Amino acid sequence: FHNHFIESVRPLIELIDSLRLIGLDEDIGLPSIAVVGDQSSGKSSVLEALSGVALPRGSGIVTRCPLELKLQKVKNAPWSGIISYSGHRETFNDPLKVDTLVREAQNKLAGNTVGICDELITLEISSPDVCDLTMIDLPGITRVPVQDQPEDIGDQIKSLILKYAAKSETIILVVVPCNVDIATTEALRMAQKVDPEGLRTLAILTKPDLIDRGAEIDVLNIVQGKVIPLSKGYIIVRCRGQSDINDRIPFDKAMEAELTFFRDHHYFSSLLDENKASIQCLAGKLTKELADHIKKSLPSLTEQIQTRLLSVQRHLKYYEQGPPLEEKMMGPFLSEIILEFSDQINELSRTGHSKDKN
Ligand code: GDP
Ligand code: NA
Ligand code: MG
Repeated sequence: FHNHFIESVRPLIELIDSLRLIGLDEDIGLPSIAVVGDQSSGKSSVLEALSGVALPRGSGIVTRCPLELKLQKVKNAPWSGIISYSGHRETFNDPLKVDTLVREAQNKLAGNTVGICDELITLEISSPDVCDLTMIDLPGITRVPVQDQPEDIGDQIKSLILKYAAKSETIILVVVPCNVDIATTEALRMAQKVDPEGLRTLAILTKPDLIDRGAEIDVLNIVQGKVIPLSKGYIIVRCRGQSDINDRIPFDKAMEAELTFFRDHHYFSSLLDENKASIQCLAGKLTKELADHIKKSLPSLTEQIQTRLLSVQRHLKYYEQGPPLEEKMMGPFLSEIILEFSDQINELSRTGHSKDKN
C-alpha cells in the first residue's frame, strides 16, 4: 500500500541510519509517538492510519495494555512480525493476525474481560513498506469502573498513561472526538501537566463525520485555536469507522475518502489549505517534528565528524604518500625510509628524544 507519512519521513530516517552505520552517536533515537485520550476517542484508529498496521479497535475498552509498535524497514524481505510479552515470543508472517494475537496477549496479561495491565506488549514489524518508528498505543481514560474493574481504574489508567507521556522523547497526540466538549477533556489536561509549554503535544480531533448538525462552527473554532490555543495547534482527521472496517475498506481508499470528505465539507473545506485537516497533514506535521529532533542532534554530530576527520588527517600525514605503485620505484622509496629511520635513531641516541616528523 502507499503511505505518504512513511514516504516523507524515510529520507530522515535513512540519514540517521547511515550516520549510525559509520559509528556516529548510537544514541540518536527518534522520538516515539504516543496517544492519549478517552476510551473510544479513536486513538488506535489514528495510529493505525499512520503506521499502516491494522490494530485492534472498536467500542468499549479494546486497548487494555500498552502496545509498543516498533516498525522496522527491511529491504528485500517479506512482512514479518514478532509479538512479545512476559516471557512469550511468537513470530508470524500474516499481517491479518495482528488483531488476534494482540487480543490474545491482552487476555493473558489482563484477563478475558475489561481488566487493564501496565505490562507492555511489544509488536515488532519488519517490512519494506514501513520505516523505523516507534508508536505506543495506550488504554483510554475512563472514569466509571465497569463490570469487575477495580474502583481506582481511572487512576490506574492515568498513571499508566503518564508513565509514557512524561518521557521527553515522546510526541504526545491528544485525541479528542469532535462530538465531545474539549474544554472538559482530561487528556488535554494530562498532556499540559507533563508538557506545560506544549512543545511536544499535538491535538487531534477525530470523528468529524459524527458532529451534530449545528455544532460545526464550534468545532471549526476549536480547530482554529480560538477556544483553547495550543502552541502546536490542532489537526482534524477522519479515520475508518466501524462500517468501513466491516466493509474491509483498505487504508489508501480510506485516505482518499477522507480527503473527499473534507474537500466537500461545507464548513471544513478551508482547513485542508490551512494544513489543519487529514491524516496526510498529521503525517506531515509529525515528519517536521522528527526533522526538528534530528536537527537538534546535528551540532553534536558535526563535532563528532570533525574529531574523526582530524584524527584521520593526522594518520594520513604520518603515512605521507605510502609505498609507490610501480615496482621499479620501490627501491628508492625503501632507501629513503631507511635513511629517515637511521636519522631518527641518530637523533635519539644524541638527544634521548625522537624527532617528531610533523
Ligand atoms: P480508541 O479506544 O481510542 O483506541 O478508539 P478506536 O480507534 O478503537 O475507535 C473507536 C471506534 O471509533 C471504532 O469503532 C472506530 O472505527 C471508530 N472511529 C474512529 N475514528 C473514526 C472516525 O473518524 N469516524 C467514525 N465514524 N468512526 C471512527
Ligand atoms: Na475503544
Ligand atoms: Mg484503542
